Amino acid sequence: MPKLDMSEIRSLVQSRQPGRPLEAPFYLSREILELDLEVIFGRHWIFVGVEPDVPEPGDYASVQIGRNPVVIVRDDDMQVRAFHNVCRHRGARLVTEPQGTVGKLVCPYHQWTYELDGSLIHAEHMAPDFDMSCHGLKKVHVRSLAGLLFVCLADEPPADFDEMARALEPYVAPHGIADARVAARVDLVEEGNWKLTMENNRECYHCATNHPELTISLFEYGYGFAPESGDESRCEAMAQYARTEAEFETAWEAHGLAWQERDELHGRPTAFRAQRLPLDRAGESQTLDGRAACRKLMGSLKRAKLGGLSVWTQPNSWVHLMSDHVVTFSVLPLSPERTLLRTTWLVHQDAVEGVDYDPDNLTEVWRRTNEQDGALVGLAHSGVQSKAYEPGPYSPYTEGLVEKFVAWYIERLGAHLDASGR
Ligand code: FES
Ligand code: FE
Repeated sequence: MPKLDMSEIRSLVQSRQPGRPLEAPFYLSREILELDLEVIFGRHWIFVGVEPDVPEPGDYASVQIGRNPVVIVRDDDMQVRAFHNVCRHRGARLVTEPQGTVGKLVCPYHQWTYELDGSLIHAEHMAPDFDMSCHGLKKVHVRSLAGLLFVCLADEPPADFDEMARALEPYVAPHGIADARVAARVDLVEEGNWKLTMENNRECYHCATNHPELTISLFEYGYGFAPESGDESRCEAMAQYARTEAEFETAWEAHGLAWQERDELHGRPTAFRAQRLPLDRAGESQTLDGRAACRKLMGSLKRAKLGGLSVWTQPNSWVHLMSDHVVTFSVLPLSPERTLLRTTWLVHQDAVEGVDYDPDNLTEVWRRTNEQDGALVGLAHSGVQSKAYEPGPYSPYTEGLVEKFVAWYIERLGAHLDASGR
């Protein structure tokens, strides 16, 4: 891929055709990935994990956002904090493991030692006028949305996080994420650009033929299919789906759960969507039989058959919340052609492995679905490199959310290029 300068990137941003995927350089160019890291991942709220990643004081979780290693820590007052995972002495990375527990944060290089609130408390052999109070860890903004953790690397993060939190908390809070326990976590590296991973997530056009495990519990009609006139069986299936939806709505109302679709996926820096949908078969969970995989229900929920709540945030997450477990997905670019997908399964904190749930049963559907999606992303990435690649039209019925993701991305790059005069 030849190098792109800023004027070429600007003209690609300006000439993006609505209703179609991006031009190939958006998926392949190192310069565009650099811009993505600076503008999208460097200035927006990025979903990185959940409060149960750091349940106790001293627990930490590390995450790499582009070139910026970040450590998330639970301090002695139970507050979740985030810091640049970079020593204030000569810049060594402080923690190297993805997760762990520490009393203090101690740099492995010369043992500068930091409190869990980031303040420097020990540095040997320094000059008499060395001021420890000026050398605390650099803070990263971190916010919890009902247990979902977002960080922002910018000095001044987008101010609309609170609006998202106010809108989403009534949906998410009943599922009790902050008080849950991590039952499993899988890091999968997909061989494709991060935007292909996100675009793939934003549609279920590919589900029926690629996700045999997921579609056991998922109703394809919940994701918007074109009514085909004259096809009686499809009309009957859609009518049946509408009746099922009405039954679930009655149950959601009875249990005081927010369920109306809320879509704010573009037109704002901190963009999101929430939708509660029925599930097929037993209607309880995204499992191989549609039944709850965990006997202890999440949070304040009192009934297993509640379908599923899905939450999507731009630029890098989706979350599926059922009565018995929650699955979160965080997407982070590694290079133009490699992307990390981190998947975390949560159960009630009192649920006992082997007694209340079987971890294989709990994780099977999304382990397989992720592998299938990863293969599809790889296919798309290899195809967009061809000289024959030309963005084709999106389906107006099934790819509306893909369009919203791409529109948001272009809108954010465009706003940045305009504001910075580049
Ligand atoms: Fe951390 Fe020297 S680089 S103590
Ligand atoms: Fe998929």
